[in-house]
Amino acid sequence: MAGIYIHIPFCKQACHYCDFHFSTSLQNKDAFLSALKKEIILQKSYLKSELISTVYFGGGTPSLLSKKELNEIFDCLNDNFKISDEAEITLEANPDDLTIDKILGLKGTPVNRLSIGIQSFYDEDLELMNRAHNSGEAVNAVKLAQENGFDNITIDLIYGIPTLSHHHWRNNLQIAFALDVKHISAYCLTVEPKTALAHKIKKGQLKNIDEQHGSEQFEIMLEAMHKNDFIQYEISNFCKDGKFSKHNSSYWLKEKYLGLGPSAHSYNGESRQWNISNNALYIQSLEKGMLSFEKEELSIDQRYNEYVLTSLRTIWGLDLNYLEQNFGKKQLEYCLIEVGRYIQTEHVLNEENKLYLSDKGKLIADKITSDLFLVGEG
Ligand SMILES: C[S@@+](CC[C@H](N)C(=O)[O-])C[C@H]1O[C@@H](n2cnc3c(N)ncnc32)[C@H](O)[C@@H]1O
Ligand code: SF4
Repeated sequence: MAGIYIHIPFCKQACHYCDFHFSTSLQNKDAFLSALKKEIILQKSYLKSELISTVYFGGGTPSLLSKKELNEIFDCLNDNFKISDEAEITLEANPDDLTIDKILGLKGTPVNRLSIGIQSFYDEDLELMNRAHNSGEAVNAVKLAQENGFDNITIDLIYGIPTLSHHHWRNNLQIAFALDVKHISAYCLTVEPKTALAHKIKKGQLKNIDEQHGSEQFEIMLEAMHKNDFIQYEISNFCKDGKFSKHNSSYWLKEKYLGLGPSAHSYNGESRQWNISNNALYIQSLEKGMLSFEKEELSIDQRYNEYVLTSLRTIWGLDLNYLEQNFGKKQLEYCLIEVGRYIQTEHVLNEENKLYLSDKGKLIADKITSDLFLVGEG
């Protein structure tokens, strides 16, 4: 089983916190779509005829594409890959795009899961982040999608926003529960270098983000999710009724995936590669029939680091037997020495030879994983 990720590198406007790859000029959209189809054909052997169980349109803003544009991409995918009849096919959608016409159009494509970027149900947060939608559109987008046959919906929320009080954060979660979505991804606002948010903080126009505020909202979220029967199956991902994201889970469970479009990453078990993060150069290269990516063969230690990074953040935990069998004794011993102090302080739990983060461990997940990393060895 393998996955395909397609990056749609266009947005209507730039959110102030975002450092994903996108352009706000849609001028190159048609040229991009032609280039993407060429890339699909050139990469048809990357996954060695494995059955594709997930396709994920991410961005950027994939909901900018029309039904016709999406169906042409699917035709090309089907001509070149074997996509399972039960494949999970997700499209990231921004609320301001989800009009009734757009939703009905999407029903006429193979997309069967929508990931709606809500971020907050409060206008002051949406304004601070420079989102293109308002709170009314956020609620309507979810309702319209549900009423028109999308039952597999996930929403993205952001917490730790300076304007978001604990009371409003609780309400954001309650609104999400009341909307009866079965999957929620919730991220703590991070200040990425070179974003408008970082610039405003540097200029003193905005207070720096308070880490404690984010940590408290993380704890509020865990309690609310638990009360509402949501399972935290990864630090930022929660679901109800077994509605795990097959696509996200495949990343964490180390399945192979092909990334298409500018800036997209691919992984085939041995190496990782990433496409050029520039729309014009991506298009030019494919017009000449060439792929444009950088590639890194992963050493055993790098693969060990990736395993630590991804597994420890999940409900499935870090399997010490798997670690020893796949990476070796040296790596196992290093991991056990480094994790010892976190087991003593109960940030990490060792159950039947598997390591899991406790709730207080989840608050410092980045610190714990980086302490377990092997550095400087090939
Ligand atoms: C890159 S966006 C793409 C989806 C879609 N364009 C949207 O905005 O809804 C994916 C998600 O990443 C999250 N995200 C991006 N940058 C972030 C940041 N600096 N801090 C927290 N969350 C972030 C947001 O929740 C966003 O919905
Ligand atoms: S968060 Fe989404 S809509 Fe906003 S700039 Fe990033 S990719 Fe575009």
